[in-house]
Amino acid sequence: MEYKLAASSWGKEEVQAMHRIIDTGMHSMGSTVKEFEEKFASYVGTKHAVMVNSGSSANLIGFHALRLLKFKNVAHKIKVAVPAVSWSTTYFPLQQLGFQLVFVDVDLENFNMDLDMLDKVARENDLDFVCGVNLLGNPMDFDRLTSICNENNIIFVEDNCESLGAEYNGKKTGGFGLFGSFSFFFSHHLVTMEGGMVCTNDADLANYARSLRAHGWLREVDEDSDLHGLLEGVSEFEKKFRFVVPGYNLRPIEMEAAIGLEQLKKANSFFETRRSNFSKIKKILSQYNDFHIQEAYEMATWFGFGILLKNKLEGRRSDLVKCFEKYNIEARPLLAGNFLKNPVIEHLDYIVPYACKNSDYIDENGIMLGNYNRDMTNELQLLEDCLREFFQTL
Ligand SMILES: Cc1ncc(COP(=O)(O)O)c(C=O)c1O
Repeated sequence: MEYKLAASSWGKEEVQAMHRIIDTGMHSMGSTVKEFEEKFASYVGTKHAVMVNSGSSANLIGFHALRLLKFKNVAHKIKVAVPAVSWSTTYFPLQQLGFQLVFVDVDLENFNMDLDMLDKVARENDLDFVCGVNLLGNPMDFDRLTSICNENNIIFVEDNCESLGAEYNGKKTGGFGLFGSFSFFFSHHLVTMEGGMVCTNDADLANYARSLRAHGWLREVDEDSDLHGLLEGVSEFEKKFRFVVPGYNLRPIEMEAAIGLEQLKKANSFFETRRSNFSKIKKILSQYNDFHIQEAYEMATWFGFGILLKNKLEGRRSDLVKCFEKYNIEARPLLAGNFLKNPVIEHLDYIVPYACKNSDYIDENGIMLGNYNRDMTNELQLLEDCLREFFQTL
């Protein structure tokens, strides 16, 4: 018996979908990607969705589209608030686009950005926008975030790569900010091998994202977009080979979208299962006074189980990990810990207005276990056995 960080959620439908695409002989981005985008946008509740080859790429083209649309002729350094606990490619595209990162601590209960600190930071610094992250399937407090952003006249966007299906006031995360990004990598809620999505209600942002995704050309851009105006009078013959934005090639493939369509049909049952797994692990951990499991803010979809060690386990993570290893339980730090502690930080332009003490605590005492789209009774029994032995010998 083992308890790994992630498990496959594919059935025969996903494999058959791949075969159908192979049989067409047309594998690069086409009508299946378009169909998945439409169904995904409708599921999330946004007007537009633009699929790319990863969640990291979704962040990259989302931020880049934002830069071209909102900050094109801005002379000052563009400042973006980010939480100190998130994944590396929340931060790197921001750096690559020349933004300055303003680090904000996270809340120790739900691990999302500390909005009291954000409020203070927003008043004291000329922030241009906030990149909120719904961490591990948990929505942020969007009422509070919206009011802070409105008061300070700033935009917010969402890195929602870990939180597909999570809801706040009945509305899905990834649909609150100017755009939301999603990831379909293994271990995520929906798995398409690699893959990502940008969701938005802003037609301009969607069109810029479509052009940035594929070479900076106009081919997938809506006819009524201003971008077409840039090529007014250009013949159809030339138009296909004219470029309007400094793009990339981050296109997904048809096979990924075909798998995504099958996975999407199962999404609601996946989320139910994840919530049920969460209730079970919470019950197991609550037998001890030495764990804090991530607190749900509204309706979470539990990307993984984020746990903090406290009381007599504070500072003893390596002992617990040893016991996990003995029981074949795979665990990992909570995302990248406090991102400020990563050596790569020297390559980033950033400021830290206030100490990120909670992120330090997470860095040293955080641990993450996997949650799956299927029942985990056996894995959680293994965990319960492991913890019993661990506490007996402590
Ligand atoms: C918060 C966050 N942002 C971005 C990403 C990047 O997604 P991908 O692995 O699809 O590039 C991840 C990956 O897990 C993530 O957790």
